[in-house]
Amino acid sequence: MKYLILDMADYVGSRSGFMHGVAIILGSGLGDFTEQIQTPVVIPYHAIPNYPQPTVEGHSGEFVIGNYKSVPLIAAKGRFHYYEGHDIETVTLPIQLFHKLGVKYIIITNAAGSVRKNMPPGTLMAISGYMDCTFRENLSIPQIVDDISSKLLGCAEEASNRVNVKLENGIYCWTQGPAYETPAEVEFIRNLGGDAVGMSTVPELQAAEQLGIEAIGISTITNYAAGIIDQPLTHGEVIETANRTKDDFADLIGATIENIGELL
Ligand code: HPA
Repeated sequence: MKYLILDMADYVGSRSGFMHGVAIILGSGLGDFTEQIQTPVVIPYHAIPNYPQPTVEGHSGEFVIGNYKSVPLIAAKGRFHYYEGHDIETVTLPIQLFHKLGVKYIIITNAAGSVRKNMPPGTLMAISGYMDCTFRENLSIPQIVDDISSKLLGCAEEASNRVNVKLENGIYCWTQGPAYETPAEVEFIRNLGGDAVGMSTVPELQAAEQLGIEAIGISTITNYAAGIIDQPLTHGEVIETANRTKDDFADLIGATIENIGELL
């Protein structure tokens, strides 16, 4: 363990008074959700003893802690990606910190590419299963893992109906990046049953599971994955779609947090 997580948790806990609530990790371009948090305490990552810094555009690197409606919430604005050269311990550090803060439920969000023509950019997708398509450890064919908390999937589905924001369900495939996939890789993933592709979230879901915290992933589909339509994709498109979808995202996430708050 290279991080002194207890020291980090002491710092965050004593500056914010946060304990035992809900946590959310906000993906690329989705950080504006923190505007919905009441009585926010903002803690930049660099203020936390030995906490690492993210480097990606669209990620600012701070925790925003307060209440959503009456639910105690800690939001991580900015995350650590494996493709930035961080090891898994660093990538999952926010989850370990949440664990030390007594968090019971985590929502992990991301921007992702759609592998399905019938799931266009602007769609929100609950991660009902995932695949590790990084081939970091071996070259065996990725398998779908679908042990996602049905309680939390239910919270998101109820939220979608209540605020009238459509929510798809799908299989999220973690690729290593940092480049977007090739059309051949996307075709491979589609044949395995993948619905969306992205460069995060899976290690965080796995860490939450290992620590006994219930977690759910919500993707904003920001683009068609490479080769799905005849148009190149760019990080600009990812940020632009995330921006255009932010009201739906905020409504859905807000209502999901309220529902999860009922479980606390
Ligand atoms: N591929 C991988 N990661 C992504 C994509 C994509 O198409 N869109 C947003 N993040």
